[in-house]
Amino acid sequence: MKDRKVYFVCFHVLIFLVLQASTNSDHNGLTLNTFSQEDCVTSCAAGLRCPIDKIVLQGFIDTGKFTAQHKKIFSLETRKKSYPFETFCSLAFFECKGYTTDNCYCEQLDPDIYLFILNTTAGVNLSQNEAILTVVHDQHADISSISRHLPKMYESSDITLQVNDLQITPDVKTFKVSTHEEGQITFCCHNTPTPCDVSISKDGHIVSSNITCTSYNHHPGQSNHYTFTYFVCNENKISFTLSAEDADSKVGESLRSYQLLLYFFVAILVVIIYNG
Ligand SMILES: *[C@@H]1O[C@H](CO)[C@@H](O)[C@H](O)[C@H]1NC(C)=O
Ligand SMILES: *[C@@H]1O[C@H](CO)[C@@H](O)[C@H](O)[C@H]1NC(C)=O
Ligand SMILES: *[C@@H]1O[C@H](CO)[C@@H](O)[C@H](O)[C@H]1NC(C)=O
Repeated sequence: MKDRKVYFVCFHVLIFLVLQASTNSDHNGLTLNTFSQEDCVTSCAAGLRCPIDKIVLQGFIDTGKFTAQHKKIFSLETRKKSYPFETFCSLAFFECKGYTTDNCYCEQLDPDIYLFILNTTAGVNLSQNEAILTVVHDQHADISSISRHLPKMYESSDITLQVNDLQITPDVKTFKVSTHEEGQITFCCHNTPTPCDVSISKDGHIVSSNITCTSYNHHPGQSNHYTFTYFVCNENKISFTLSAEDADSKVGESLRSYQLLLYFFVAILVVIIYNG
């Protein structure tokens, strides 16, 4: 009696596990893996550089789940936001002979199982797109995999560099910081793949460094020339030098002239009162 109960429970656990396993795999034979940064040819930890990095995406097709008419051509389709999907590349099953330098290639692993690989240059037109693997049928509706999100891909011109809220462009030569008392200098690198290493140097020595943003306290009486260096994904260090201008000098000067003017009027007033 007890044994029967144990068998009964075990049988249901088994059924449950089988159901779990089958709901985790694609029923329709088309599987597109989630994007993995590690599969790409890149030194970035997140995001990709256009056109330096390569975006790689893997998929599997089980033709055992298809009818003969479906076993002809399959394609990778991509779209931005809610636009319709467009074909990025198409391959015929008979072409699946392994690695090529094309944007997409495929390989027959088993009589029924095919490996699909997207291996193309990172470009803005693929940035943050949705991708699906599709088998086309002449008469019936297409069969598609679950859609996957592609990562953000950045142009080198997308980068935003900031020194104390000042956006850096090639014609910027100075920045403002309090130089008559201790003032903080913050240098940030935004809108790039990560990591973006940033550092601040003075007199040829790095005084502060970090990832994305770094800060240094300027002390009065020190040199006002600072060199700012950044490098995205551990490559190509780029530097520029700016000189610090006193952020308070203008305000201080006008305040002092107002004070002088006030003293002057008070003095005149006193003279007038005494004389009268
Ligand atoms: C992708 O292409 C690059 C060459 O452009 C190659 O080094 C890399 O091994 C390829 N990756 C895959 C998965 O095919
Ligand atoms: C992406 O842009 C490149 C040129 O910049 C073009 O050759 C390619 O066909 C475009 N791909 C898509 C899917 O629009
Ligand atoms: C670097 O940045 C991180 C994150 O903003 C911060 O927690 C850390 O203290 C910084 N390190 C230095 C040495 O400034």
